[in-house]
Amino acid sequence: MSSSSHPLYIVTGATGGIGGAVAEALACEGKTLVLACRNVNAAEVLSNRLLCDVPGAEVFVLHLDLSSFDSVRCFVDNLKQLHRPVAALVNVAGIMTRHSTLDDDGVELDYRVNCLSTALLARLVAPMMLHRSHIVFTTSVTRKIWGIPKAFPRDGMFSQLATYGRSKLALTIFAYHLAGELRHRGICVACADPGVVDTAMITMHRWFDRLADILFRPFISTPRKGAEPLLRALADDTTCCIHTCRGVHMLTLRKSWKNHEADVLAQIPMR
Ligand SMILES: NC(=O)c1ccc[n+]([C@@H]2O[C@H](COP(=O)([O-])OP(=O)(O)OC[C@H]3O[C@@H](n4cnc5c(N)ncnc54)[C@H](OP(=O)(O)O)[C@@H]3O)[C@@H](O)[C@H]2O)c1
Repeated sequence: MSSSSHPLYIVTGATGGIGGAVAEALACEGKTLVLACRNVNAAEVLSNRLLCDVPGAEVFVLHLDLSSFDSVRCFVDNLKQLHRPVAALVNVAGIMTRHSTLDDDGVELDYRVNCLSTALLARLVAPMMLHRSHIVFTTSVTRKIWGIPKAFPRDGMFSQLATYGRSKLALTIFAYHLAGELRHRGICVACADPGVVDTAMITMHRWFDRLADILFRPFISTPRKGAEPLLRALADDTTCCIHTCRGVHMLTLRKSWKNHEADVLAQIPMR
C-alpha cells in the first residue's frame, strides 16, 4: 500500500498524558496519525518528536476544540480534505473543571467536552470509517458513582468530581448506543478505563494536592500504562465492551442508566 492510501488513526487529546502515550505507541506500530488537538503548537511539537523518533512515521495535525460543536464540524471538514479512510478514532481528550463553567447554551463544559462534542465527533467521523475499524471512548470509574441529573446537560448542582463522573457516564451510555448503531457496518465501539493515571488531570487544585503528590502519585499508573486499555481496545474486534487495566468485559447499562438513554441521545446532533 502506498503511504497516500494508509488509513488514518485519529487521536484526540494527544497533547495530554494518556493521549500522548497512545499516539506514540500507534506511531511505533507504523500507523498514520491525525493528532486532533486544541493546542496546535503543542501538537506540532509532538508531531516533530514522533517524526524524529520513528523512522517513516506519518503524522497530520488538525485543530479540534471540543468546547464547540462548530469546531468539531470544521475538524471533520478538514479531515475529509485528506481523502483517506479512517481506521480508528481514539477519543482521549477530556477535562475536569474545578468550578462550574457554563457555555452560551448554559451547558457545563465537562458535559460539552467529555460527552456531547466527543459523541458528535464520533457520529460525523463514522461515515468515513472502514469495515473492522474502531471507535474508542475514554471513560472513568467515576461514571459508576453518580446518575444523570434531570436537567442534563444543564447540571445545576456542580461538583468537580460528580459533574466529571456524570459526563463520563453520559459518554458511556452514548458508546453503548453507538455500538448498536454501527454494528451492521462492522465498526467496533468500545470504552476504555485507564484507571488512575499520573497526568495533569488528577490535580484537584486543592490544599491536599501536595500531600497527594507525595503519598499517592508515586503509586499510580504512568501514562504509558494508562494507555494500555485503549490500545487493547484497538486490537480487539469485539464491539460494545469496556477495557480496563484488569481485562475486558461487555458493556451493559444499569437499569437506572437506561432510563436516561433518551435524555443523553437527545443532546447529540445527527449532523
Ligand atoms: N488521569 C486519570 O487518572 C484518568 C482516569 C480516568 C480517565 N481519564 C481520562 O483520560 C483522558 C485523558 O486524560 P489525561 O489524564 O491524559 O489528562 P491530560 O493530560 O490533562 O490530557 C487532557 C487532554 O484533553 C485535551 N483537551 C482538554 N480540553 C479540550 C478541548 N476543549 N478540546 C480538545 N481537547 C481538549 C487537552 O488538550 P490541551 O493540551 O489543549 O489542554 C489534553 O490533550 C480524559 O478523557 C480523562 O477524562 C483520566
